[in-house]
Amino acid sequence: MSENKDESVKPKKKERVIVKPVAPSAVSSAYLVLRGTIAGILGCPIGGSDDCMSSLMQPSFIRDKYPSGKFSINLGKKQGPGELLIPDEEDQRNQLLDLIESTANRIVADNIKIDVYKYDREAAIDKFGTAMLDQSLLKLPKKPKDEDKILNISVIDGVIVGVAPGPVVSSTGSIGKISLERDQCRFTAGKKSRKCDITIKFRVDETPADAQNSIVGEANDDGIKAAIDTLLGSSIRLEEGKQFKAKLDEAERLANEAIEAAKALEISAKEEAAKQDEEMVVNAFEVKGKIDYNKLVDNFGSKLIDPELLARIERLTVGRGTVPYLHRFLRRDIFFSHRDMNKICDCLEQNKPFYLYTGRGPSSGAMHLGHLVPFLFTKWLQQAFQCPLVIQMTDDEKFLFKGEYSEETGDNLDYFAQLTIENAKDIIACGFIPEKTFLFSDLQYVGKMYPTIVRIWKAVTNNTVNGIFGFDGSSNIGKIAFPAIQAAPSFPSSFPEVLGTAKNAENRNMACLIPCAIDQDPYFRMTRDVAHKLVPKTHPLGGKPALIHSKFFPPLQGAEGKMSSSDENSAIFLTDTNEMIEKKIKEYAYSGGQETKKLQEELGADLNVDVSYQWLRFFLEDDDELKKIGDSYSSGSGEFWSTSKVKARLVEVLKEIVGEHQKKRAEVTEEVVFKWMQERSIV
Ligand code: TRP
Repeated sequence: MSENKDESVKPKKKERVIVKPVAPSAVSSAYLVLRGTIAGILGCPIGGSDDCMSSLMQPSFIRDKYPSGKFSINLGKKQGPGELLIPDEEDQRNQLLDLIESTANRIVADNIKIDVYKYDREAAIDKFGTAMLDQSLLKLPKKPKDEDKILNISVIDGVIVGVAPGPVVSSTGSIGKISLERDQCRFTAGKKSRKCDITIKFRVDETPADAQNSIVGEANDDGIKAAIDTLLGSSIRLEEGKQFKAKLDEAERLANEAIEAAKALEISAKEEAAKQDEEMVVNAFEVKGKIDYNKLVDNFGSKLIDPELLARIERLTVGRGTVPYLHRFLRRDIFFSHRDMNKICDCLEQNKPFYLYTGRGPSSGAMHLGHLVPFLFTKWLQQAFQCPLVIQMTDDEKFLFKGEYSEETGDNLDYFAQLTIENAKDIIACGFIPEKTFLFSDLQYVGKMYPTIVRIWKAVTNNTVNGIFGFDGSSNIGKIAFPAIQAAPSFPSSFPEVLGTAKNAENRNMACLIPCAIDQDPYFRMTRDVAHKLVPKTHPLGGKPALIHSKFFPPLQGAEGKMSSSDENSAIFLTDTNEMIEKKIKEYAYSGGQETKKLQEELGADLNVDVSYQWLRFFLEDDDELKKIGDSYSSGSGEFWSTSKVKARLVEVLKEIVGEHQKKRAEVTEEVVFKWMQERSIV
């Protein structure tokens, strides 16, 4: 190797000798005080181990021309939260520097005696460890002189603070003012190595002229005995340090608390959202909780009816003179969501035929006001579009889901079949166009739909149905088969006679529009998914039925969820007398008004939760009057300032509607029902 060749000619490397210029005693003493201060504040044994070693003091006073020095202390491993040596935050670090400076000056002001003891190096290290040394003293030079074998150990206030780089003053009061040169002080807290060190550059000023040096005493075990434990311990020795730690701990506690609080908030927000989700249940069998309709539309993937679509519908209905104005359910966002309604508008414009399909599951003889909503709207649609309408009575569905079997009387399929007839009377009383309307019971009519049903069965898997409707292996097989039966009327092929698809191939392309409450949507999502397999390729909507969805009519006790026929007092039944209507509204209609007259006049009512007002939105035709009532009631002033005034108006409206309905229904005999249920052409 070339290096070896050269070695002979190169002068032998001299052993590096660290030349330590003798520091002014004020600087040496300040160094000692600062070491002690840092140890006392941060609670670490400075130089107590190799991990925690102070560098030798750089005699920067040589360059700076003023009494100054610079040293670093390796603080060892960065500690975990709660016991950290060096704070993480920038301003906490600056506070720490402030504290070191002020504490050092406090020690100066306290004018504490500095004792220096001569001690045999080896014996000192044996007794006290390397704690009092800096790096320069850790190793003896190769050829130690006698003086190298002696250490001058300084003790301030009973604490060994180390071996000073020169003579020290006899008392801290003789040091003068210690200031930290901030721009050269640094903290390093290695992210990876987790090592911490602190570099301190300091200067000393205003050293008293009469400063005396400490007289170096002979080794005296007793004199420094007390210092030993304190030096080697890692506890905080200075009051300032205790306070600083307490402050950092408090800051950390607060920060953790804030994090916890933020977490808790996040969790509670999530829980709240989950609760909302949990509370809001909308499926084919259950509606409960506070309904968020926008979310529902989002979840279901339908579309809100926007003003543009509404205007288009108005042009194609009111504009053609079939109806005088848009139905209040459309004006008031009660029918609010749709699928492919635009394509139905296309059909209207292009004179392509379509039909309406709706239905009812006859689960009880007593229909209530909420049940009328889709039928009243369907009646308007039929009037507006002058189109055929099929109405499915799912007596089979209700038997499969709610039927009972008793040993004595057998099952109650006949009961549901009979309910079809009773409910049909209420439906017919809504006033559809008789020659364009076919009402059928599944139990009776299913044969004609059967080919369509079989095709749907073939196209839909058990998993799909279970997924959509929540059935499982324990569900009776009728339930699993049923969705296809509700789907079937969406296809013209289910009505060979009624829609003339047997004779007229063109009619097989008829589009279908289904008005229904939004909880029925799952059936038709399933239907739309398989639709293309059931119609000619030329069908204008690819076979998919279009839909127009309503919100739920709120129960008397509160504008959440939908009404139930099983709770007598949650609804107004179509058979209720005037007195019953009045009593139920007065006693049970949930009020959004205030507790007292004074508050009501001050704050007004909350229309969103007020059932009487919400019901007026469904049934009071006059927009101007509704607005007047809303303005007055919500402001707590004027004619409808109070709940009782609004309730009184609602009672009037309901009496009229229910009274009218009862009159019309009385005319619907069983013979009339059979006529509507007669299979015949309605196109
Ligand atoms: N399943 C509906 C119910 O329980 C009845 C129904 C059948 C229906 N076909 C429909 C409702 C079409 C709306 C549209 O009431």
